[in-house]
Parts: sequence; structure tokens; C-alpha cells
Amino acid sequence: VSSVTSDSDGFLQCLSENIPSGLIYTQAASNFIDVLVSSVRNPRLFSNATVRPLCIVTPVDVSHVQAAVRCGRANGVRLRVRSGGHDYEGLSYRSERADEVFGVVDLSNLRAITVSAGDERPMPTAWVDSGATLGELYYTIAKNNSELAFPAGICPTIGVGGHFSGGGIGMMMRRFGLSIDNVLDAKLVNASGDIVDRAAMGEDHFWAIRGGGGESFGIVVSWKVSLVRVPSTVTAFNIFKTVDQGAIDVLTRWQDVAPDLPSDITIRVIVQGQRATFQSLYLGTCSDLVPMLNGSFPELGMTSADCLEMTWLQSAAFFNFWNRHTPVEALLNRKTSLSTFTKNKSDYVRRAIPKEAWSNIFPWLTMSGAGMIILEPHGGFIGTIPAGATPYPHRSGVLYNIQYITFWSSGDDGSSAMTWISSFYDFMEQYVSENPRETYVNYRDLDIGENMVVNDVSSFDSGRVWGEKYFAGNFRRLAAVKWAVDPTDYFRNEQSIPPQQSTA
Ligand code: FDA
Repeated sequence: VSSVTSDSDGFLQCLSENIPSGLIYTQAASNFIDVLVSSVRNPRLFSNATVRPLCIVTPVDVSHVQAAVRCGRANGVRLRVRSGGHDYEGLSYRSERADEVFGVVDLSNLRAITVSAGDERPMPTAWVDSGATLGELYYTIAKNNSELAFPAGICPTIGVGGHFSGGGIGMMMRRFGLSIDNVLDAKLVNASGDIVDRAAMGEDHFWAIRGGGGESFGIVVSWKVSLVRVPSTVTAFNIFKTVDQGAIDVLTRWQDVAPDLPSDITIRVIVQGQRATFQSLYLGTCSDLVPMLNGSFPELGMTSADCLEMTWLQSAAFFNFWNRHTPVEALLNRKTSLSTFTKNKSDYVRRAIPKEAWSNIFPWLTMSGAGMIILEPHGGFIGTIPAGATPYPHRSGVLYNIQYITFWSSGDDGSSAMTWISSFYDFMEQYVSENPRETYVNYRDLDIGENMVVNDVSSFDSGRVWGEKYFAGNFRRLAAVKWAVDPTDYFRNEQSIPPQQSTA
């Protein structure tokens, strides 16, 4: 229940006095919907019934972000911040609450990427603005120096702002960690509208923004990252196995092997229908990879004919487009399509699932409404980082993450897909991590819980329900940081960290 009334007119008036009018789109503007939909990629989250913002502000300068926060605070209007718009529940541009009055700060114009001259020790660095996409980041780094890269996710249209706020898992995390493990500094607009860097915000606040989930701790406008070194040639492959070709045996074995392989090789698995695709990146050449895999994972039956040697940047395009000939410039395309409705959920596996159980899992993938699962191996460097080093707690002992995805197109009401994903998730409970049943915050899922707002503040008890799944033992520290930096809960959404004074 909201006890503070919002002054929408005062908010819009304040914005118009502080931000050029061409950067403010009110609901009355003829292109309001075009701007709102510009980075939405899941039509499930965008319909006539979707609760829309009062206005969208598209800053071209950090001072506009500051002005939006100050105008919002002064007039009791909250902000939602959007970088790439890929949030799985659309929380960067819509509200679940019909009566919520809010503005959207869309950072897509703030997307500068500055790579350092290259003489820094121990590694070159880059500053990247939140509105850049992962594809733009990869392209800019590699065009600057083809032996430099950055560990982050696969889809190139993901925004840096949301991705780094939640972790950033990808094909190089076993070697170099998550994106957040490589963030050195950040610039953030806090709840007072001030711009602060790591030194000014302090270590607790800096800890929280590296994985504590978007929105809660202010608007991060820019991130300083440490780049990583990759060889000039890497090797990718896709190996397909159907159930008839022994997919169940290979997958059962993969669970023990993949998290334990040398950290410069990642083999993830995509299971759809009765086929498992073993998709791999090796930071080295085919001639080293084949003997290594034949020694440690002979069940996969990998040969040199499977090797696709390419540059690291080409591999970034390959994993997204599944075509080694796609030009790397495709990574720069920011356009998203609204053709596919989706719903996602996730789990972590800490004990290998027995072979008999896989025989029971595969039939789920051919049921009505079935989508796919993606298994991302952990282990390697990521498993050596203490669970409290960043808010991302799924470290030592995690074998892999499971992402459940279902999809449908317009004309279908999606009910069988939605039933499938929730029943499958229920079925999988027996096989996955427990107390808490862990979930990845960047694969946001509102089914696991939403905040209740009591006396105009998100309640700690309602937050714990979903928060301990995302953050395990780190949830309390996140709540204490929130208390310290935004005690009145200005930055909030359905799954933002509630403020709670530390009892320690
Ligand atoms: P968006 O702009 O929607 O923001 C997400 C959340 O962060 C919202 O709550 C938002 O308010 C907040 N936020 C955004 N910018 C902020 C800022 N500057 N400061 C503070 N808060 C901010 N993940 C992964 O780890 N590995 C992967 O390979 C993939 N693959 C993938 C594919 C596809 C097709 C999708 C749709 C998603 C993924 N993801 C993923 C998940 C992805 O990492 C996650 O959705 C990110 O939060 C998206 O970041 P955006 O900036 O695009 O989202």
C-alpha cells in the first residue's frame, strides 16, 4: 500500500526544466510506443494491458540521469531503469502493479566504450557505459586488439547495465569468472541524485552492485572492467546426440566431466526434443583439444572433424547465430524482434542427476508446450571464488546451472507452454539444490516471489522468500547495504532488495 502520493505533473514539469525536451517521451508523444518497445524482446511482457510508464527519458549525459532521480524524488515518482531491456520479466519498463506511477530512464544512448591504451598492469582495462550491448562490447574490444576479450553472456543484444548488475555467465566463466568478477570500478547515480565512483560509494555499495540484481542500489551509468587475454585462435564445436545415439549416457557422464575439465574449455548442453547439443569453446587450437577430450571425455566421440577454428570474436557470433560464417558485424545489430513469447526459470545442480532420472527427464522435452533446457557448467575459476566475494553465491560445489525456456508465437495463448514449464520445474525439485533451491537472478522469475510493500517500504520478510534463492547467505548483507544507501526504498521493483538494518 503506497502512503506517498505521486505528483505526476510536478515530475514532468521538473523533467522539462532540466532535460532537453527531445529526450523526454510522454504517453501523449506520437512515438511513445516505439520508444517503449524499442528493446522489448518478449511480447508476453508487452500487451495492451501492460502497466506503462508516465514517460521515458533517454539521457545523453549523466546529468540527465541525475535530474531524473532528483525530479522523481521531489515528486514521489519512482523510476525504472532500462539498459538492454532483456529482463525476463520486463521489470525495466513495466510494473506488475496497476496503480504504480513511474518513469523509465532508458540508457540506450549512453553506450560509450573506451579501451585503455594497453600498457596497464596486470591487464588492459575498459570503461563501458551501461547502455552498450554485449555485442558492442565484444566487437569494440576485439577490434582494438584481437587477443583481448571479456567474459559475459551469449546474446549480443543484452545490455551491459542489467547483465553486470546480476552476474554475467557465459562461455569463458570457467576460465575468467563472471562479468562481475572482472569489474574494477563503476559510476553510479545514487538515491540522492549524486554521481559516485567506487571510492565515493564505499566497498559495501560497490560489492552490492556487482551481482545484487538491477534497480535496488542506484543507476549504474558506467563500469570499469579488466579485460582478459585470449589466444588468436580458439576452437568451437557443436556435437549433436539424440537419445537413440546415446544422449542419456553422454549427458550423465558430462555432469561429472564438464565442471572438472581444465578451465580453458567450456562444454554447455542444450537439450531440445530428444536431442542434446554439446556446444563448446576451447581457448586454444584443435590439435590440443582433440587429445585432451579423447582422454577425459571419450564418450563424446569428438574428432578433429568437429573443430571449428576461429577468432574469439567470431566465436561470439557463432554461439549466438549458430553459423560460423555470420559476419562479426552482426554483433552490433541492436534490433530485437517481438516474434517469440517466452518464459524462463532456472536451477543449480550440486549432485549429478542419475542416469535413470535422465531417462525420466527426456520425455518432458517432447510433451505439449515443451521448450528446451540449457545446462551451463560451473567449476574451474568460478568455483574457487568464495560465495560471499560477490552477491552471486552459486560457486564452490555447483556442477551446473539449468535454464528452462519455453516459447510460443502469436495465435497461441501460451497456456500449454506455461503449464509445461511450471510442472517441469516442480518435477525437477528432487534433483536440484535445496535449502535454498538456488536460482540465478539474471534469469529473473517472478513465480518465486514478489515483494510486499508495507508502509511504503518493501518488506524484508517478503523479500527473503525470493531473495535467498537468488543470493543465499548474501541476501542479508544486500538488505543491510540497501538500508545504508536507500533506506526509504526509492529504487524498487517487484524483486528489489528490501532495506533492513543490520543486526550484526
Ligand atoms: P534490462 O534493461 O531489462 O535490465 C534488467 C534489470 O536490471 C532491471 O531490473 C533493470 O531495472 C536493471 N537495470 C538495467 N540497467 C541498470 C543500470 N544501469 N543500473 C541499475 N540497474 C539496471 N544472462 C547471462 O548471464 N548469460 C547469458 O548467456 C544470457 N543470455 C540471455 C539471452 C537472452 C535472449 C535473454 C533475453 C537474456 C539472457 N540473459 C543471459 C539474461 C540477462 O543477463 C539479463 O536479462 C540481464 O539483466 C539483461 O540486462 P539488460 O540491461 O538487457 O536488461
